[in-house]
Amino acid sequence: MMRFRKSASLLCAAALAFAPIALAQTGVTAILPDGRIAIPSIGYPFAFHKNYAARALAAAQASQVPSRMVAQTPPMGWNSWNYFAEKVDDKGVRNAADELVASGMRDAGYVYVNIDDTWEGQRDASGLLHANAKFPDMKALADYVHSKGLKIGIYSSPGPRTCAGYEGSLGHEEQDAQLYAQWGIDYLKYDLCSFIPDVMEKQAPNDKAAQMRLMVAAYAKMDHALKATGRPIVYSLCQYGWDAPWEWAPSVGGNLWRTTGDITPDWDRIYAIVSQQAGLEKYASPGHWNDPDMLEVGNGKLALAENRSHFSLWAMLAAPLLAGNDLPNMKPEIKAILTNRDVIAIDQDRLGKQGTRAYSEGEVDVWMRPLAGGALAIAVVNAGDNRYATHPFDLSLTKLDLHGPQTGKDIWTGKPITLNDGQTLELARHDVLLVRIDAPK
Ligand code: GLA
Repeated sequence: MMRFRKSASLLCAAALAFAPIALAQTGVTAILPDGRIAIPSIGYPFAFHKNYAARALAAAQASQVPSRMVAQTPPMGWNSWNYFAEKVDDKGVRNAADELVASGMRDAGYVYVNIDDTWEGQRDASGLLHANAKFPDMKALADYVHSKGLKIGIYSSPGPRTCAGYEGSLGHEEQDAQLYAQWGIDYLKYDLCSFIPDVMEKQAPNDKAAQMRLMVAAYAKMDHALKATGRPIVYSLCQYGWDAPWEWAPSVGGNLWRTTGDITPDWDRIYAIVSQQAGLEKYASPGHWNDPDMLEVGNGKLALAENRSHFSLWAMLAAPLLAGNDLPNMKPEIKAILTNRDVIAIDQDRLGKQGTRAYSEGEVDVWMRPLAGGALAIAVVNAGDNRYATHPFDLSLTKLDLHGPQTGKDIWTGKPITLNDGQTLELARHDVLLVRIDAPK
């Protein structure tokens, strides 16, 4: 939950009602669900009562930096971390960009090429950050990525150091944001990391609430710095789901926010993350997405069924689809999963409604996602071992509030399918049945 300093907020509200220009300069980013406005740049989100807020906001909007019209559907692209980690370099990023084009992934929607941690070098005497030797010319790299019809993303931390121990943005937020804009960066992942021990725990040793306020303020600060560049930059919050970011991330300009700790390429971790997404659906909407972390499709020892289920569930969750595999060496069957247009269409559905876990029976989960035009996606996942005819799973359409046989498309076979109430489904270990129904009854 957000916390506010009430007395200070009232004071500021009164002042700002008469000084809309001042409000504009502070970078208003959001109206809270209860009608109050959060103003990030003051240090941490202050809130103003809506009577003051509405007047002040209306006056401020005319001169305010336009808010980012980005991520109207969940961002799609590739990120270097899950496969390359600290081995990412200029060549690897160019290769990934080339392969996004050659594989047809760009045309399927994967447009962001995101450099994760370990690109950072040292700051010079003026505080200007330089990339390290792995990235000799970041601007040239960004130009190259853009020349392919793609966009480019980068990574930093609000702390002094990134998770991998490289230079973070603490005290250099404006300077770094300007640098990103100069390079032509389109996406920033901002990862909490050393901000926890070096700022939160140091400045507020035994006060969790104060620590969380410091964290929110740090995210607000970078939001303001990004907005001040005037460049539309997707803002991705990475703080592992602490303190329910889905409740406050939009008010600090977040377009997406991690909901959990890190993903790894194994089924148990993927399934644990999925289970933590149930109930978060109400926080997702165009421009604001829950982020269950980047894709592991094609990584580690995931079985094909597991890759299919992972990808299907991310689509049901309206999750960002950031491939994290070695694109130039991708197997055809992995490419087929990542480029399945029907699954991507579910993920990118313009209604922007995240799916819900409708019900579970033992280790079988049934997810539903409403789609534009009254359509519906259903995913039935067997998280356990085999459920064949000897030990069947019977789908209940009644529990899904559907009436009578439902005709749709089995997305993974590409064939028409009719689902009946009580129908027995045979789902192999960790496999999924993903169905799109255009006219559910
Ligand atoms: C954290 C993040 C990961 C990755 C690494 C990089 O663990 O959650 O996604 O960015 O840092 O160091």
